[in-house]
Amino acid sequence: MTRPTTTDAGIPIASDEHSLTVGPDGPILLQDHYLIEQMANFNRERIPERQPHAKGGGAFGYFQATQDVSAYTRAAVFQTGTKTDSLVRFSTVAGERGSPDTWRDPRGFAVKLYTADGNLDIVGNNTPVFFIKDPMKFQHFIRSQKRRSDNNLRDHDMQWDFWTLSPESAHQVTWLMGDRGIPRTWRHMNGYGSHTYMWINAAGERFWVKYHFKTDQGIEFFTQDEGDQMASADTDYHQRDLFEHITAGELPSWTLHVQIMPFEEAKTYRFNPFDLTKVWPHADYPLREVGKLVLDRNVTDYHTEMEQAAFEPNNTVPGTGLSPDKMLLARGFSYSDAHRARLGVNYRQIPVNSPKVEVNSYSKDGAMRVKNVTDPVYAPNSYGGPKADPSLTDDGGTWYSDGDMVRSAATPHAEDDDWGQAGTMVREVLDDAARSRLTDNIVGHLLNGVSEPILQRAFAYWSNVDKDLGAAVEAGVRAKQNEKDPKAAKQANPARSTMQAKA
Ligand code: NDP
Ligand code: HEM
Repeated sequence: MTRPTTTDAGIPIASDEHSLTVGPDGPILLQDHYLIEQMANFNRERIPERQPHAKGGGAFGYFQATQDVSAYTRAAVFQTGTKTDSLVRFSTVAGERGSPDTWRDPRGFAVKLYTADGNLDIVGNNTPVFFIKDPMKFQHFIRSQKRRSDNNLRDHDMQWDFWTLSPESAHQVTWLMGDRGIPRTWRHMNGYGSHTYMWINAAGERFWVKYHFKTDQGIEFFTQDEGDQMASADTDYHQRDLFEHITAGELPSWTLHVQIMPFEEAKTYRFNPFDLTKVWPHADYPLREVGKLVLDRNVTDYHTEMEQAAFEPNNTVPGTGLSPDKMLLARGFSYSDAHRARLGVNYRQIPVNSPKVEVNSYSKDGAMRVKNVTDPVYAPNSYGGPKADPSLTDDGGTWYSDGDMVRSAATPHAEDDDWGQAGTMVREVLDDAARSRLTDNIVGHLLNGVSEPILQRAFAYWSNVDKDLGAAVEAGVRAKQNEKDPKAAKQANPARSTMQAKA
């Protein structure tokens, strides 16, 4: 039997097609509340998109701990055999909600684990490093990747301006311009927590860890041409791919590994272990398997389950914590602030964000509070209200800190520099074919509207990463510039798009 349409108040309505008028040709009547409800609801359908990472999708699944890591963490979610409901959202960083999935960009890899101790969010990317290491630069960095204020176009000139003035970006930009800058699908990429986090065991001993979710589907990528073609053939290719594979029962999975550093070693390690532009070489800190993340259930309502999903790195559970990485500490504030602005102060009451454990907080009221609050509404109290139990927490992980208040870079470690690890990737990780694609990708990107002083800086930037790469990039750019191309010469607008350049 067809279900009768009702208003949002559940009252049956008379027509899905005709508004209430005075005679068939007459004016519309204000008392047609259902028409007004339809128009008003439509006008309010869109909520602000995420500032970065606006385009994305994902699915539900579970994480199952398979290996014994209890010597390092007491977190319930990581005890062998424990199976935990999970949500994962993948995203591009710079594009808007309707932008193509196959633009060159890092991909977000945000994991929410609904654990027995509350929600643990690991809000990472498909890359183990990042462009900057001080949160003061994050807002500027994201603006340089998005749109100009005058013509509203994306602009490689401002991207390279920022990167070449921020040498700490070299490792991540090398990664981005390489094959992994356009993953073939979300299923074919790794996820990295990127930052260093803390683990705490039952005895209270602390360790530093890095999370690596390694794809069980294998790494696959698109070349720039393939990515460009897919961007026009299917803007939503990655979203479609994930949805269809889960629907067909071909469930994607990732094996979680961690690198573990004893607490005291952080002080003397050759790299600053809290520097987000560096990895911990595997030879120093090998990967240890922890468990499996499997996606087995598509969302059934994108708006409530994806668009309103709110991940926040400050969600750490007992046995886990943050670290002295300034970027991570700033993210601990930024995300919950973004959610309050985008979704409202009670965003954690939206079912997708609600923990699967009892909530006993003293938060009260605010827009869209839907769960009942009971008295007493204050603490301390004499009436049996919730009472903090420090034995249940690690207070987000702690470390000793002292010093004058300063604005400065972190104290350098023996081998800290901006270029070394990027150079290692170019020389030791990539093969000849991958190096040649990297060079072509950089040349293509630079030819797309980067102006002369910045171009010079870009050649120096790549020479610092690797002398041969720098020379090859400069030669590649100069050769193309010398090709007599009257159309390209006319397209002086620094923000012209790749497609215009090709026309
Ligand atoms: P390893 O040889 O042990 O590790 C190299 C790693 O590089 C691989 O394990 C793989 O990481 C990753 N990799 C392979 N191909 C590419 C590619 N085309 N683009 C990006 N990454 C790729 O050496 P080290 O641990 O000493 O690291 C050497 C360099 O490798 C680093 O400077 C860094 O640039 C890069 N790297 C290191 C990672 C780490 O955590 N140590 C992680 C990723 C990159 P994976 O197995 O995670 O896919
Ligand atoms: C999204 C801030 C660095 C991964 C966001 C959002 C903000 C933000 C405000 C939008 C949140 C929302 O509206 O839901 C910052 C700040 C950073 C930073 C201030 C540095 C100081 C990073 C880093 C990573 C990262 C280093 C990865 C390691 C993500 C992901 C999302 C996101 C995956 C999307 C989450 C989702 O799918 O909803 N970031 N970010 N960010 N960020 Fe960051």
